[in-house]
Amino acid sequence: MRDDQITGRMAGQNKLKLGTFSANCSSGMAVTKIPERWDNSWENNIELVKMCDEAGLEFMLPIARWIGYGGETDFHGGVLEAITWAAVLLAHSKEIQVFATVHTAFNHPIVSAKQLATIDQLSKGRMGLNVVAGWNKPEYDAFGVELPEGHDERYERGQEWFDYVQKIWKEERAFDWDGKYFQGTGVYGNPRPVQSRVPILNAAASTQGRAFATRNADFLFTPAFDFDQAAETVANINQQAQAVNRNIGVLTFCAVVCRPTQKEAEEYLDYYANENADWEAVDYLMKLQGMHAQSFTPDALANFRDRFAAGHGAFPLVGTPDHIADQLEKLSNAGLSGTTLSFVDYAKEFPYFRDEVIPRLEKKGLRNKVL
Ligand SMILES: Cc1cc2nc3c(=O)[nH]c(=O)nc-3n(C[C@H](O)[C@H](O)[C@H](O)COP(=O)(O)O)c2cc1C
Repeated sequence: MRDDQITGRMAGQNKLKLGTFSANCSSGMAVTKIPERWDNSWENNIELVKMCDEAGLEFMLPIARWIGYGGETDFHGGVLEAITWAAVLLAHSKEIQVFATVHTAFNHPIVSAKQLATIDQLSKGRMGLNVVAGWNKPEYDAFGVELPEGHDERYERGQEWFDYVQKIWKEERAFDWDGKYFQGTGVYGNPRPVQSRVPILNAAASTQGRAFATRNADFLFTPAFDFDQAAETVANINQQAQAVNRNIGVLTFCAVVCRPTQKEAEEYLDYYANENADWEAVDYLMKLQGMHAQSFTPDALANFRDRFAAGHGAFPLVGTPDHIADQLEKLSNAGLSGTTLSFVDYAKEFPYFRDEVIPRLEKKGLRNKVL
């Protein structure tokens, strides 16, 4: 068990931590055909990290994706590789923490341990790791790797991957690894991370995913369907964590449309996520999720087609700055430690959120002013 503490903004005092999600992916989180959908260029990502860093956001988080979801836009067909993306964003920022998302099934632990340690050196200790076991069958097919049917095996392999990486980061001498999934002799890692404890996120929702997070992560990253379900999830995780003497936070993901009036926000939502949704990609994405992941319950999948178009299943924050600040307060009251944000055009829309919503969160005591 890792018993030292995480540091940096993720360990800071803000009751509601904020980050962004999926800015490395074409279209971000909006499965839409509108021409002004997110362009995940380096220019846009670098502009965004500078703004988020200055605004005091705690983190940015990429999606690791190898194969898009088709449709007219091939949603998530163009994706900046997550570790490379984190390296560049860390090089262009000062305090924000940037996570890399790594698939345990597609990346060798020795390679990942070194890549991550290398960017932790570059950023003087601002790298984080989001561990994902993987679920997306077309990606497994592309890698020529069999997707284990059962979640037990996916997370057993994930656990061995994670333990191996941790050992490479800690061990001062060469060692041998003789596991079920990996074997190696004379293994060592140099450089090692600057941080004595690298912050760990685990994105999952299944029982096995939650158990993995409880054992290994500092934050579980999981969907919020409504305030009651969010509160239940947090209570369930707290109970599991306390049973093993650990404390882990729960983060969710929200899709933001913030406008001066409710009407404008709702009209824009209708424009990009209804009239101009890429429904073919939405339906394929939901079909794959239903077949291979347990992040969304069958009920949620039946009811959330609109949410998948608007933000890949994210909790919707649509309306005026007052309304959005109130919604965020309710998520915080449900026990969540924070959320990621996504926008149709992150770089264009974030400044309005920063100027109008963040001060309202400060007034509510959810965040401190950036000095
Ligand atoms: C908020 C969130 C973010 C995720 N990010 C990724 C990702 O970047 N790449 C990926 O392949 N899977 C991602 N996943 C999928 C999970 O890692 C996991 O494989 C999937 O949810 C199936 O596991 P589960 O049934 O235990 O939830 C994400 C899941 C959630 C809930």
